Amino acid sequence: MDAAREARSNDGRSFTVGDAGGTSFVAGSLVIVTGDGERQLALVEDRSDEQPASLRGRLIGVLTDAGLDTARSLPFDTGTLEEVDVATIETLHETTGALLEVGSNLTQPGGPAKLLPHRFNRHTFWCGQSGSGKTYALGVVLEQLIAHTALPVVIFDPNSDFVRLGELNPDATGPTAEALAQRDIRVLRARGEGDSALRARFIDLRLPSKAAVLRLDPVVDRDEYNRLVHLEELMRAGELAQIMPMLRERTQTGDEAHPLAERIENLGVLDWEVWAAGATAVTDVVAERPDATVLDLGGFSTPEQQLVVALSLLDDLWERREERRPVLLVIDEAHNLCSPRLDSPLAVAVRERIVQIAAEGRKFGLWLLLSTQRPSKVHPGIISQCDNLALMKMTSPVDLAELGTYFGYAPTSLLARSPWFRQGEALFAGGFVPTPSLVKMNARLTPEGGSDVGVPLR
Ligand SMILES: Nc1ncnc2c1ncn2[C@@H]1O[C@H](COP(=O)(O)OP(=O)(O)O)[C@@H](O)[C@H]1O
Ligand SMILES: [Mg+2]
Repeated sequence: MDAAREARSNDGRSFTVGDAGGTSFVAGSLVIVTGDGERQLALVEDRSDEQPASLRGRLIGVLTDAGLDTARSLPFDTGTLEEVDVATIETLHETTGALLEVGSNLTQPGGPAKLLPHRFNRHTFWCGQSGSGKTYALGVVLEQLIAHTALPVVIFDPNSDFVRLGELNPDATGPTAEALAQRDIRVLRARGEGDSALRARFIDLRLPSKAAVLRLDPVVDRDEYNRLVHLEELMRAGELAQIMPMLRERTQTGDEAHPLAERIENLGVLDWEVWAAGATAVTDVVAERPDATVLDLGGFSTPEQQLVVALSLLDDLWERREERRPVLLVIDEAHNLCSPRLDSPLAVAVRERIVQIAAEGRKFGLWLLLSTQRPSKVHPGIISQCDNLALMKMTSPVDLAELGTYFGYAPTSLLARSPWFRQGEALFAGGFVPTPSLVKMNARLTPEGGSDVGVPLR
């Protein structure tokens, strides 16, 4: 067993080991420090390999016969370090309420890695380069959440990756698979029929959102926007197709068409398949609070239509925020909806709504989980509100440095491991994990929708 002398804590919060030579503890190792008659659980956050090797870390809590007391940690002059045992890790999970098993710990002594379901009441940022395994790993976490909590999940799925979330792999067994089989999982698709069609109602959109659909900017298109404002009542009279004849009736002098009618025709908005007409809209489905709703956003004939779906749902959830009914909004490839570079009126409207939910949604139960390839792809006003981080392989030093500025709770030495991650390996940090952890993700229980296409071989 590893043992090191000369551990010391002056402040009862952090600890140092002056000479850790001969031990194999690294950043991310959980250890038990014994000093001044107390045993404490601690996390190594940094190992410097200059001679002699030294360690730095934080104390997590005092180990007692009754378990782990995370409300207390104590200073000591001389302590010894030993490797944590599996039973103590179990105690840590029980004490913190970590029960979603998503993988195994990469640091010694291994064992299951678990997340805290009740801490998905914060926003989560999920980051890693393309192919690092984000979507697959996100699926593992969502399976656990859907199986073991009653928190409704809505998945914005641009690549049809989650469309088979309601099925089980043939080899999937055990309590999570059994629970998943009982859950109400709806998949709405652009090309779907009836209740499985992904649709939005124009009539329900707020006026600024209607203007965004019509690509109207209140300042740049002052006159036309103002006409729209004065037609607010008409705009609530029906769906676009019903409004058009009424707009045409308002044609003023001679044969000159109403500018809004011309605009609607020119944009081809009437031909969009996203409009619900009399059928069920995405807002209706989500309001029924299924355990999970997958919005298969790919498959529309034009890219604006996925923005219409997102905007109508996010606006609706925001308008009902006082109902305080929790929902987890999972946005894969979040740069599609949250990039600081988006500039069409619709995209800006969606992003601004997400910025607002990031800033103020938490207390209303509107929680975000955003996945993307690098931090600069999501608006800073959103990332800065995230209290949970999942980081997969990312080789860019600039991106890692940027993450470090947002996620101070993720030890720098652990962030620095990311370039060496294999596919399916992740760093979890923040409130939703008992301590910052390096994890190898478990296998999925449900089939992936659109996994990578292989090169045909002879
Ligand atoms: N943990 C894993 N185990 C097995 N296959 C995986 C794992 N993670 C990813 N893959 C596979 O690798 C490919 C890329 O993974 P994906 O999750 O789509 O990456 P990303 O979303 O980061 O681009 C997919 O085909 C997926 O099936
Ligand atoms: Mg992906």
